[in-house]
Amino acid sequence: MHILLVASAFNSLTQRVHVELRDHGHTVAVELALPERPLAEAVRRHAPDLVLAPMLKTAIPREVWAAYPCFIVHPGPFGDRGPSSLDWAIQRGADRWGVTVLQAVEDMDAGDVWASVDCVVPPVGKSDLYRGEMADAALTAVLLAVERFASGTHTPRPQGPAHAEYTPVRIRPYLDQSVRRIDWDADSTETVLRKLRAADSQPGVLDVVCGAEWYLHGGHPEGGLRGAPGELLATRAGAICRATTDGAVWIPELRRRRAPGQPPTYKLPAAQALGDRLPSLPELAAPDCADPRRRTWTDIAYREEGSVGVLSFSFPGGAMSTTQCRRLLDAYRQACARPTSVLVLGGQRDFFSNGIHLNVIDAAQDPAAESWANINAVDDLVEAVLTTTDRLVVAAVAGNAAAGGMMLALAADEVWCRAGAVLNPHYRLMGLYGSEYWTYTLPRRVGAATADRLLGEALPMSAASAHDLGLVDRVVDCGPGDFAAEVGRLAARLAALPGSPSRIAAKKAELERQECGEPLAAFRERELTRMRRTFDDPDAPYHALRRAFVHKRRPQSTPPHLDLAATTATRAAAGAGADRSTRARVTGTALDDLSRRPDGWYEES
Ligand code: COA
Repeated sequence: MHILLVASAFNSLTQRVHVELRDHGHTVAVELALPERPLAEAVRRHAPDLVLAPMLKTAIPREVWAAYPCFIVHPGPFGDRGPSSLDWAIQRGADRWGVTVLQAVEDMDAGDVWASVDCVVPPVGKSDLYRGEMADAALTAVLLAVERFASGTHTPRPQGPAHAEYTPVRIRPYLDQSVRRIDWDADSTETVLRKLRAADSQPGVLDVVCGAEWYLHGGHPEGGLRGAPGELLATRAGAICRATTDGAVWIPELRRRRAPGQPPTYKLPAAQALGDRLPSLPELAAPDCADPRRRTWTDIAYREEGSVGVLSFSFPGGAMSTTQCRRLLDAYRQACARPTSVLVLGGQRDFFSNGIHLNVIDAAQDPAAESWANINAVDDLVEAVLTTTDRLVVAAVAGNAAAGGMMLALAADEVWCRAGAVLNPHYRLMGLYGSEYWTYTLPRRVGAATADRLLGEALPMSAASAHDLGLVDRVVDCGPGDFAAEVGRLAARLAALPGSPSRIAAKKAELERQECGEPLAAFRERELTRMRRTFDDPDAPYHALRRAFVHKRRPQSTPPHLDLAATTATRAAAGAGADRSTRARVTGTALDDLSRRPDGWYEES
């Protein structure tokens, strides 16, 4: 079928639907629903068999849904309606939630239901849940709805009271800051956590910290620290710890409330955001070894089971600043000093990595210098992985990975990826050539032509497609909550394989051969020469694209590479030369566009 995705942004769920529908053999185009861009005209141009809206913040106009079958993905169970479904579910402490695919009609969320799928709600932030359990449920529901529609025989279930299995409709309003507000003198840790999680990663909870208004982003329990309710108790790795009535919580990031007439604000590590306002507080080191019984938070943790070491890390938004990269490199070196034969990197849940930290770079006095420091810090980490010759390193990709974060995974000997992860192995949408030794690792895995195609197309891909290409070695088909345990089991099996010691010896010999021929440093130097040129050129598209990204500016039109994606084929063609002509068109148009008018892609804020 030819399916048109209509979305407010090409966000993680839209990308996931995009890649999986393509994997299922459909041709898929994307049209962003933007103000001043008549949607009806765009839909007519695509002439789709079906319009599907995975994430749409506006209503589909009557002239579209009256002329084409239009399915809406609603992040709530059957009968749920309203713009803040998931926020309410978390804030109210639901332990199960769901996703419903319904037909667009005049009233929002009121159409007949084509599929509805439930999921569990673990104690995580809203965005993490949205990219994890909710995205899995959404894909099951979408694929079922599409299959039912294609069959031509299925009758969708009406929501009206006349239906035999009538489920009462529940409409919940927009969840605004007055309801999200934390009462530090009254709210328990559990209540505070529910409020923080319901607002994470957006819009955050508006609060007063150190005499100014901030949105709090992220929230994790702390079991060992106590203080007067609302008091700041400590810092750790850029996060602040704040006392509740019966415990404390860690808050990793803050965003300043935007003042009228001022530019948009964006999230930064909490301690950095507060700067001089932060009182003198103890910087508490993370516990040495991850102990699941200890209620605390750390963004980097190490644990060991037999001859397997697991170095897990979890940075908000998958962004890795210079400091975070350096801390992770220190932890990596310590992990390498342990007597293990397999080292797993990553592997809890949600984002693996999205590369350099664009917010921290943008907030720096000298963004070019900070970009340079950040890319070098990532490269140092990648180098450490590439030159680990005394054990096998596995990158465990629990969730989405992009740009330099994807290339970090490719430095490992094996890449294991959760089936639901969406991968974006490209840089050019940020106007960057890229580093992280990708010129060594990417062609080594997929060949030069495919590497070139992936970078040029700049499209997301599923774990399954990545596996077909050789980008990923193993697809782990499980829910987000089971990934870490499944990886642990597989890693133990890998460590016990009789062939593993000889593999380790072979990789050492291979690296020595490589160093005698074209040393790794040469790859890095060539990449960084290109990156430096970009960073140091104030007119380079990167700077405008980065600003647009951190300020969350809306594009003015659907980026051309998404439009052309309709012509690319499915998984079957992913590795083949069949789409070479498409690649030429993509690189020929979108890249030109990018270098000519990056600012023109985005509306002014
Ligand atoms: N630096 C800073 N923040 C980043 C980031 C980065 N490299 N990558 C993602 N984020 C943040 C986003 O701003 C967003 O913040 P929010 O939750 O407050 O809105 C959050 O992480 C999730 O990202 P989002 O874009 O909503 O997720 P997505 O799954 O829809 O899209 C990407 C994922 C990776 C395609 C998109 O985030 C992206 O293009 N990131 C930039 C990648 C990049 O160019 N890195 C630099 C080159 S190495």
